[in-house]
Amino acid sequence: MTASAHSAPSPVQPVRWQDGELYLLDQTRLPGEIIEERQKSAAQVCASIKQLKVRGAPAIGIAGAYGLVVALRDKLHLDRESFIAEMHKEAASLEAARPTGVNLRWALRRQVSHVLEMTGAGPEEMHAELLAEAIRIHDEDRRMCRDIGVAGKPLIRQGMGILTHCNAGQLATSELGTATAPMYLAHRDGVGFSVFVDETRPLLQGARLTSWELLEAGIDVTLICDNMAATMMAQGKIDLVITGSDRVAANGDAANKIGTLGLAVLARHFNIPFYVAIPYSSIDLDAASGADIPIEERAPDEVTHWGGHRTAPDNVKAGNPAFDVTPNDLITGIITERGILHSPYGQAIQEHYPCD
Ligand code: MRU
Repeated sequence: MTASAHSAPSPVQPVRWQDGELYLLDQTRLPGEIIEERQKSAAQVCASIKQLKVRGAPAIGIAGAYGLVVALRDKLHLDRESFIAEMHKEAASLEAARPTGVNLRWALRRQVSHVLEMTGAGPEEMHAELLAEAIRIHDEDRRMCRDIGVAGKPLIRQGMGILTHCNAGQLATSELGTATAPMYLAHRDGVGFSVFVDETRPLLQGARLTSWELLEAGIDVTLICDNMAATMMAQGKIDLVITGSDRVAANGDAANKIGTLGLAVLARHFNIPFYVAIPYSSIDLDAASGADIPIEERAPDEVTHWGGHRTAPDNVKAGNPAFDVTPNDLITGIITERGILHSPYGQAIQEHYPCD
């Protein structure tokens, strides 16, 4: 445990702002240890994002927004122009920390453009507004998760088996998650269902995070290896697939954790509905299709090693794309805080999110 680390309060929150300090839960240590780290600098926030201490597109966006506040807190002595130059520089380096989830870019650009509207304001006032906007982004995410839950809850019926991938849960957002929000609300209403959780190689977000948080909520969970999904479907155990997404393009193509595309193909084969759950902060109207979504390539040692131990031969080549893109025609519906969108997604996205 570092000097800045301590046991996180319950209920567990991935991102927390308290008394002028940013705390991030170190998700790489879950489920074994619940430790959060105080973020002392922008460089530390960037490192926490890169190392997946904080992860999941909405949570990364919220962490980035507070990260900008941390980055600029010792720049209040600057004149307005120099402060603005620093703000652009720090926002750009935070934005570069992870490329696929669009929420980080969305949150930082929202903050910067909000503050640039404050003509004549000095650094102290602008800095206070950066924090106010970060808190608004955080609160808005809580509301959106709840509304996604309300929109998606009717999809879950008594006795269903639901498959999910990676972690699009509380740990990936502010609260309730996106893919998990309909599950939490249905469970609270007394609907009985089972969730099959893909372990999600290489970093095991399903095994370490999703199965942990759903179990804590008292939901019936079965953990499976990624390569068991087809068999579970063939055996009739899966009635519904719900995943999150890190970026949905203007045509509805959806990037999510590597392996999601395979599930969508399988779901189509077995005639199982496949839904993606997102807040509007995950929609990128600048990306016309999935081809415009940058896919993060991570270090090969995440594939060749586990828990610090080599699990593959020395010098073997390893590919490690962290995300894949599911084409819109494999998606039954996109669950959003404004309801469930259906094909044609380009039109549905334009109608529900007219350039806002
Ligand atoms: O690499 P990660 O753990 O950040 O990947 C997370 C996912 O792929 C989630 O499914 C996605 O961010 C949606 S979270 C609501």
